[in-house]
Amino acid sequence: MHFRIPLAGMLLAAFFAAQTAAQSIIPSPRQLSVQDTGFFLLSEASGIVADTARGSRETALLLADFVQKSTGKKLPLLAQPKPRALYLAVKGGGPDESYHIDVEADKIRLEAADARGLVWAVQTLRQLPDSLGRLPLLSLTDAPTLGWRGGHLDVCRHFMSVEMVKKYIDILSFYKFNRFHWHLTDDQGWRIEIRKYPRLTQAGGWRTEPDGSRHGGFYTQSQIREVVAHATRRGIEVIPEIEMPGHAVAALAAYPHLGCTGGPYQVPNQFGVFDDVFCAGQESTFTFLEDVLREVVTLFPSEYVHIGGDEVPKTRWKACPHCQRRLSQLHLPDEHALQSYFIRRMEAFLKTKGKKTIGWDEILEGGISPTATVEVWRGLEQAHKAARNGNAFLLTSYFDAPPGTLTLRKVYDFEARPKAFSPKENSLLLGAEACVWTEYIPEYKLEPMILPRLAGLSEALWQGEGNDFQDFQKRLTAHYAFYEKQGWRYGPEDRDLYKATITYRPDQHDWLVSGQAGLPGVQSRRLQQGGHWQPWADTLVLTRPGTVQVQPFWGNRPFSEAYVFRVVENKALGKPVTLTALPDARYGHDRPMALTDGLLGDDTRHNDDRWLGWDKADVQATLDLGTPTSVQALSVRFMQRLGTWILLPVSLTWEVSANGTDWQVVGAPKANTPPTTTDLVLHDYAVKLPRPQQVRYVRLKAARQTLPAGHPGAGNPAWLFADEIVVR
Ligand code: ACM
Ligand code: ZN
Repeated sequence: MHFRIPLAGMLLAAFFAAQTAAQSIIPSPRQLSVQDTGFFLLSEASGIVADTARGSRETALLLADFVQKSTGKKLPLLAQPKPRALYLAVKGGGPDESYHIDVEADKIRLEAADARGLVWAVQTLRQLPDSLGRLPLLSLTDAPTLGWRGGHLDVCRHFMSVEMVKKYIDILSFYKFNRFHWHLTDDQGWRIEIRKYPRLTQAGGWRTEPDGSRHGGFYTQSQIREVVAHATRRGIEVIPEIEMPGHAVAALAAYPHLGCTGGPYQVPNQFGVFDDVFCAGQESTFTFLEDVLREVVTLFPSEYVHIGGDEVPKTRWKACPHCQRRLSQLHLPDEHALQSYFIRRMEAFLKTKGKKTIGWDEILEGGISPTATVEVWRGLEQAHKAARNGNAFLLTSYFDAPPGTLTLRKVYDFEARPKAFSPKENSLLLGAEACVWTEYIPEYKLEPMILPRLAGLSEALWQGEGNDFQDFQKRLTAHYAFYEKQGWRYGPEDRDLYKATITYRPDQHDWLVSGQAGLPGVQSRRLQQGGHWQPWADTLVLTRPGTVQVQPFWGNRPFSEAYVFRVVENKALGKPVTLTALPDARYGHDRPMALTDGLLGDDTRHNDDRWLGWDKADVQATLDLGTPTSVQALSVRFMQRLGTWILLPVSLTWEVSANGTDWQVVGAPKANTPPTTTDLVLHDYAVKLPRPQQVRYVRLKAARQTLPAGHPGAGNPAWLFADEIVVR
């Protein structure tokens, strides 16, 4: 009988496989008891019996479809009970979306409080079988803590195909998210067909990229209905977002009369906050938006319509005679009140269509009606503000942050019910959404940005908090295998999809460039002489000033913007800098030496580890060259980027000293960029000494400028951003 022990071992192993599957459910259910003997075997002899409640039959078909796709087995829908059948029923009673599963040796029962709960029962059931199609005998009772568990997707900055949108919805439903927030309009593209205004998609749906290529696309009304039906069957309500009054340049490009200046406008290929918004003075704006919403509400059966409301510069309204006439006719104190008028008016219109309004937290500015729902994105103080006003609100987790920054662990620890909330605030908290802004996420990068992070967020929202990250990670192992079977691509848990860095090494007097891929298949190449991208060894030591460019690829397709690392000649290289105020924690608090590391910052963004940023104080930097040094020129670069609250200094002086006590002012160069310039501006504040001078100390003073009228932060000091103090 030598085969006995291995056979028993195999049976045991097989049993534990089924056991383990049941213990890998995400989000973790409230109550689960797994029996230690026996299992139910899914087979073609099983069939599905659905009750007559609304949605049950569709959910039964969905289940049959899932089973067929994963096992090849076709489960018929049965009219009559039969041994080994699966029974689906909506029983009513119990908390919203709650459900119960019993797996017995000869039947499976899925029972739910409502149609959505039944879908969640099916999604849990999908997670139970082992690789042989066996389910352990068990009893499971489950219900969510938060009622609004959403996934947002920006399809404007990068267009996403219908297939990808459906895939996103499939993933949301798998993790029991119940809302899909579809961000359909923005500056960079209008993505929803509106029959009455065909130019919205013909002209507003496309843009010319900096390299001359065209990017765009839109959804026809029939595709929208198809997506809504797809989501509804999967327990998900689709909430359309039509942005107003800001983030509207694509619409203005199509219909210039809707803007204050009348245009012409172009669909932008850059990202940010633009001055051109819908005119709040002319009636034609409201006629247009009501026409649009009239078509929108027929396409989306959702309880809510999202009308944006975020990031609305008031510059154009201040200068527009129509807007100013409206302001004086309505005795409004300022443009914030005009924004409030705009939002309230659209909310009232939506109410006549039986819809509730939701908007980003700026809709609180200037006062809103307490019936609108606020989506909080600028910090918890906005949640407190919404609650004081009596508004229901949602929290957000911004998934556009790369996984090296917003790690899986951080997502899992998302405070779905912040401890700082009062009972009243908790009663107004509806739930939260993962927000996927796609400025830097083309379609092929979407999946690794949402998986596995949606798994982590689902548990935080379902349970009200993440409980045990180690246990979650163990369960996630089975999910990775599931993703692979589904053809769902996933990203790293705590690394970026790709990252290249450059570091100055003072001891070696050189710079180390290195690249790291966080995703299989991503490889980088380096720009060689002659302008060709060549494979490299992912590290490179630079011993002299120069430029290194690194470009990650996925196959032959660039995977992100190229990294451009520039090292400049600098007599101050590696010399100590004393600051009267350290930079902000996010922008260089721990690396004041970045001002003398020879490295210039990225020309296109401020958050690249090479720029330093201050907002709480002016900059005073004192540089010690160590010994008297012949100095002929001094320069420092500052950035202006109004949309991110960064302005050039209002004043700047250069001083030099031989002893650190007696100072001589050698220049106070100025820039002539006004604070209202919205383009990204880089300015070199350079002075040339009349003749070379022996200098040991150099002092730079730069004062913050005030954010201009019309800016959301008007009257506050702007940020200062500088990258390198260069001495020649
Ligand atoms: C937003 O991120 N502008 C809502
Ligand atoms: Zn106007």
